[in-house]
Amino acid sequence: VNPSTSQSVLNLLDSDPRWEPWRARLERTLDATLPPAAQTPQTLHAAMRYACLDGGKRLRAIAVYSAGAVFAAPDALLDRAAAAVEMVHAYSLIHDDLPAMDDDDLRRGRPATHRAFSEATAILAGDALQSFAFEVLAADTGIDSAARASMIGCLATAIGPSGMAGGQAMDLDAETRQVDLAELEQIHARKTGALIRASVRLGALAAGASDRNLDALDDFASAVGLAFQIVDDVLDEEGDTATLGKNSGSDREQNKSTYVSLLGIEKARQQALDLHNHALACLDRLSDNAGSDTASLRALSGFAISRSY
Ligand code: IPE
Ligand code: IPE
Ligand code: MG
Ligand code: MG
Ligand code: MG
Repeated sequence: VNPSTSQSVLNLLDSDPRWEPWRARLERTLDATLPPAAQTPQTLHAAMRYACLDGGKRLRAIAVYSAGAVFAAPDALLDRAAAAVEMVHAYSLIHDDLPAMDDDDLRRGRPATHRAFSEATAILAGDALQSFAFEVLAADTGIDSAARASMIGCLATAIGPSGMAGGQAMDLDAETRQVDLAELEQIHARKTGALIRASVRLGALAAGASDRNLDALDDFASAVGLAFQIVDDVLDEEGDTATLGKNSGSDREQNKSTYVSLLGIEKARQQALDLHNHALACLDRLSDNAGSDTASLRALSGFAISRSY
């Protein structure tokens, strides 16, 4: 945290006691749901499990549980959605690291999936994780079919051409030319923000949130998602590889357009802090069936901007 923002970041809420139990639930769900490595095709299954299990901050799963908690949804109702968003996220990381994309060898402190296995297996593991996530959601019979259909549609939109995949395409395109801040915001909102938004929305949809509350949470999550990627850019510049578990300096090496390359570290951090404050204000718009349990969402926003990894 740089000196100009450290004052305001100092006291922010950046964790919640429920996060570790939620991470443990997620791990159990992933382990039980992913195809066993002993089953054919073994290498594909092993790569899927390698990319998903035992790693990452699990922020998107926590977003699902945190949003559900606002409406007092039981954790068990949210397990499959939490696993689905983490499978999609793991898929996105596998493909993001491929030589044809960011060409990174290290992920979550381990060799990237294409290094631990092969490029072909990594591509297929990503494909399989993406579709498997939808299989998991579709089979979630604990959630009524109308809500389930909304959840599936929400996740599909978030990761398609107008969401994550589109954002990744724009990110690659921006390696070869100068983009302005408005365009970069679009890239970040799509490549990273869309899945974080979908994670919050999935939790709220599973819990039966009203349209008005869904809107407030959408605005909250858009701000958190953008702040999260801004801080990812900052950490790529000033974090160290051991703490990050991925190679720092990768963006500079790949000539990426980032908040740091456009604004510099200090202004990028200030933007993230402004977005955090905006996110908190969005939560004040929650009403009706929303209880007062926004502590975990608040902590999630705080964590997005204060994290060191
Ligand atoms: C990294 O996401 C990729 C981005 C979208 C910025 P995370 O920082 O959430 O990665 P893990 O899951 O903790 O490894
Ligand atoms: C990744 O952004 C976005 C997605 C994976 C969709 P980055 O390329 O900045 O993520 P890291 O820094 O490699 O984790
Ligand atoms: Mg990338
Ligand atoms: Mg990358
Ligand atoms: Mg990055």
